[in-house]
Amino acid sequence: MPNMKYNPVSIIRKKREGDPLTKEEIQFLIQSYTADQIPDYQMSAFLMASFLNGLNSDEAAALTYSMLHSGIIVDLSHISGKKVDKHSTGGVGDKLSLILAPIVASCGVPVPMISGRGLGHSGGTLDKLESIPGFNVDITLDRYKEIIKKHNLVLAGQTEEIAPADKRLYSLRDVTATVESIPLIAGSIMSKKLAEGIDALVLDVKFGSGAFMKNIDDAKELAETLVSIGEQFGKETIAYLTNMNQPLGYAIGNWLEVKESIDCLKGIGPDDVMEITHLLAGTMIYLGNKADSIDEGIEMSHDAIENGAAFQKWVDIVEEHGGDVSVIKNPDQYPNVKFKVDVSSIGSGVITKMDTYAMGMISLELGAGRRSKEDDVDPQAGIMLHKKIGGKVERDETFATLYTNKEESIDEAVKNLKAAIELADELQNPLKSITHRVDKDGIHEYQ
Ligand code: URA
Repeated sequence: MPNMKYNPVSIIRKKREGDPLTKEEIQFLIQSYTADQIPDYQMSAFLMASFLNGLNSDEAAALTYSMLHSGIIVDLSHISGKKVDKHSTGGVGDKLSLILAPIVASCGVPVPMISGRGLGHSGGTLDKLESIPGFNVDITLDRYKEIIKKHNLVLAGQTEEIAPADKRLYSLRDVTATVESIPLIAGSIMSKKLAEGIDALVLDVKFGSGAFMKNIDDAKELAETLVSIGEQFGKETIAYLTNMNQPLGYAIGNWLEVKESIDCLKGIGPDDVMEITHLLAGTMIYLGNKADSIDEGIEMSHDAIENGAAFQKWVDIVEEHGGDVSVIKNPDQYPNVKFKVDVSSIGSGVITKMDTYAMGMISLELGAGRRSKEDDVDPQAGIMLHKKIGGKVERDETFATLYTNKEESIDEAVKNLKAAIELADELQNPLKSITHRVDKDGIHEYQ
């Protein structure tokens, strides 16, 4: 047994009784666990006690600090200007990073973006980027620094040096039913974001059936916790609460989403995607000191699409990461998927509800996501919706098309997708895409 300053059992007992832990106790646990001096069973007990009794904001900040310092903080001081990133808590059809990163970079704000892979029903930016033939997200830190210097933008995966404690804890949470804890999620997200070398952060905290947080109150609490941690670390942080009760845009699945993002960068993207993209991009441009207000940032974001600067930035960054720009310039050259199957409505009326979680899971089963960590994703698989909430459908009219290379998945997917929409004579309550902004001054309703 290594020489230990604290007794892990006493710390676990303290948390079990609901008493707050000191920064030193939390740091001891995280450091010792990362150094293999505390076994998984004790860490699991700590996680469950924290899950059940919660962690206050000082404890959440201490957890973030300990996880952040389990690895390096990337030094981007060779890049002038405020570095700003965006993080989404994840959703179905959420391709916003692919659109807003080139917009913001083309407006002069450096964007160091370290992204993750798909998790369960929700997709991941890395899998989307890798659907572009040749695109390499596994780069060294030196290359990371070189690319952001050259383009004001880099799109990479998490390296071993970034918050290694989070990597281990995340796997343990996954198998101990302790993922859905607000302070544990907040510590996990913020330790990785703070390690990137950012000066400010914009957060897209999603709620609803396609999100991690199913109800808006949990999403508010998560947003407040994330903002409070960011501010405690001296980084200006603004979060928005956005609605995941229908997929974002029409495309779900890796290449399908890249293709829709190209439309967005060319100025012909769906309204719901563009509304949130411009808000998040405008906020990043403002936090990066290139606009005097968020509204001015939003205008700059529109201009970057209209004058082609954002699309050019996207082409340049794809090329720099080794991606095939011919499919970016001509998406129709992308190889064809084996099966495209139209799915028709079983009734007629207006779509009033979409089971967004189910749609994410259907896309996963078609090949777009992983059932286990070892699975490969199929870049071509997914769903193209032709209608969204508020859209009218006739009986037997096609409302979606499935894309897959797995013939055996088709029947179940068609059945489940038909069941994932609800129809009525009219839509009583249209969805509001963005409901709140959370910043250091509190929570504000979004008009
Ligand atoms: N994303 C993360 O990075 N961590 C979590 O715990 C949940 C979502």
